[in-house]
Amino acid sequence: MSKPLRKVVFPVAGLGTRFLPATKVVAKEMLPVLDRPLIQYAVDEAVDAGADTLVFVTNRYKHAIADYFDKAYELEAKLQEKGKDELLALVQGTLPRHVRAIFVTQPEALGLGHAVLCAKPVVGDEPFGVILPDDLIWNGHLGKGGVGALRQMAELAGAQQAGVIAVEEVPRDETDKYGIVDAAPIDERSARISHMVEKPKPAEAPSNLAVVGRYVLPGRIFQLLEQTTPGAGGEIQLTDAIEALLKEQGKVLAYRFQGTRFDCGNKAGLVRATMHMAMQDPKLAPVVREFLAQG
Ligand code: G1P
Repeated sequence: MSKPLRKVVFPVAGLGTRFLPATKVVAKEMLPVLDRPLIQYAVDEAVDAGADTLVFVTNRYKHAIADYFDKAYELEAKLQEKGKDELLALVQGTLPRHVRAIFVTQPEALGLGHAVLCAKPVVGDEPFGVILPDDLIWNGHLGKGGVGALRQMAELAGAQQAGVIAVEEVPRDETDKYGIVDAAPIDERSARISHMVEKPKPAEAPSNLAVVGRYVLPGRIFQLLEQTTPGAGGEIQLTDAIEALLKEQGKVLAYRFQGTRFDCGNKAGLVRATMHMAMQDPKLAPVVREFLAQG
């Protein structure tokens, strides 16, 4: 993977049933952690990694994501007129000027692998990143000392000429919620994957090292996805295509990223992320402490 990571795919076509009724009308990626929607954290991480082309794989109900990254003429004009420069900068800063957003629809919810395959016409045959915005990974303020997980992975992918997948240890009894890897350690953060399986039962899992929502993959994965048949849950799984890549001797590394991951696909994770971010904010941290002290 000699070229830099320019394109990042965001599969955002999921229904978000764990957050109903809010997700009847609000895309789950638009749920806020404090004042920023989950998708903003994901986009910032992609831009931090060097991406200038963001591909959102969405469905026909997710117009809010496109609206969010679009120009808000009326609002911007009002803020300008009133001299509210800081707010104007926030509104205009959702997407940096040099970055373009491309929207592709996934006509049917056939699985994560299928969603990624929908990005093929935009990505073509080059290495690309995938971020699942549900998995919020926080490693400090990006650009102010913090290095995002995807940037860490892109650097490793470039240096090792390999695909890279973010992993984290999970409790044994939770292997059936994740893609699980079998990997031989290289150093304390990286390992070479030999085998990967989607949502194995704890007794059948090769380890408790789970895939979290960050991938750097070669363009070859698209051809493999085209040949992938439905797997776990009857869905076309990205994990199965990566397993096929491994079988044809593709080099794929598992990477233990620096940072804290919050699984914002469920309520507990969203609450944790919100508390964590509040504690980073000098104005909100005392509010949280005071609230907790009240029991
Ligand atoms: C997806 C992937 C799985 C991965 C997980 C990380 O599963 O298929 O391999 O471990 O994301 O969040 P999902 O959570 O969409 O069921």
